[in-house]
Amino acid sequence: MYQSYYNYVMIMMAGNIHVPVLVNEVLAAIEVRAHGAYIDCTLGAGGHAEATLRAGHGTIKLLGIDADPEAMSAAEGRLTMWRDSVTFAHGNFGRLLSIAKDKGFVPADGLLFDLGLSSMQLSATGRGFSFQYDVPLDMRFDPLEARTAGDIVNGLSETELGDMIFRYGEEGRSRQIARAIVRARPIATTGQLARTVEAVLPKRKGRIHVATRTFQAIRIAVNNELASLESALVQGLDVLRPGGRLVVISYHSLEDRIVKQFFRRESKGCVCPPRTPACVCGRFPRLRTLYSKAVKPSAEEVKANRRSRSARLRAAEILSI
Ligand SMILES: C[S@@+](CC[C@H](N)C(=O)[O-])C[C@H]1O[C@@H](n2cnc3c(N)ncnc32)[C@H](O)[C@@H]1O
Repeated sequence: MYQSYYNYVMIMMAGNIHVPVLVNEVLAAIEVRAHGAYIDCTLGAGGHAEATLRAGHGTIKLLGIDADPEAMSAAEGRLTMWRDSVTFAHGNFGRLLSIAKDKGFVPADGLLFDLGLSSMQLSATGRGFSFQYDVPLDMRFDPLEARTAGDIVNGLSETELGDMIFRYGEEGRSRQIARAIVRARPIATTGQLARTVEAVLPKRKGRIHVATRTFQAIRIAVNNELASLESALVQGLDVLRPGGRLVVISYHSLEDRIVKQFFRRESKGCVCPPRTPACVCGRFPRLRTLYSKAVKPSAEEVKANRRSRSARLRAAEILSI
């Protein structure tokens, strides 16, 4: 259809449509089977969902979940021709099991998580995810959630802010930034926050903007992203049938570590100390990991879509009990 992958990406970006990453790798890992049931836990603009539906040749059903109603509308538009095969659910994947049960998707054959935020959210002027626009501090994926970035920035103590920026932003100067934020409060907008961080951190030539890590930390806290992921992975074990595939794409080391540790723990089984004569823990392996290392995008993909450069895909198959 397009001359090359590069042209396809340029056309999508020109239309401000989120470009899905690692699409072929997702399809290889999830292994779409005829008449299967698949759940896209981070539907976004529906790019992976569309690829999955195509691979199912009209025989599969797909449940698309997203916390962001704007993303749901974008995906609904894109997936019109598959409307008989798709069920949409606005909600947080932290409630994966109950949503999947409610929509008749247990047991499922495949689960996909493509974590973080879409380029549409990043470039949306009123959402407060980016410091490119000076707008109120929001950063909620789901506007029905009560707590905004403004509540966090203006409500936490200096120590709490410092801990959060250190933990979720992996920012070495977290204490300095927290002190500056507390001095500058109240902080109402993304621009004010970015300038507050800029004032205490020297510009890093050619590197990411100095406020990037602070913004990432606040977004993770607002949306409780790491706790939702940990909980959803565990619930995935009860959603998938034996032989079903769990596929996760993460974009920073905090997420990837959670996935890696979960896969390691659940593929290990017995956790009794080495010389215990007989197993007393009663644990058994629930997963078989498909790849020993995270799958990364090709050089061609990174060249066409810079956002893909930090993507890491891990996948596992559910074992029979
Ligand atoms: C990277 S985008 C997904 C893009 C999608 N794979 C595509 O092809 O268009 C991530 C999406 O996950 C959603 N999201 C993030 N955390 C979520 C959560 N805990 N529950 C539900 N949706 C979530 C975001 O709102 C965003 O739309």
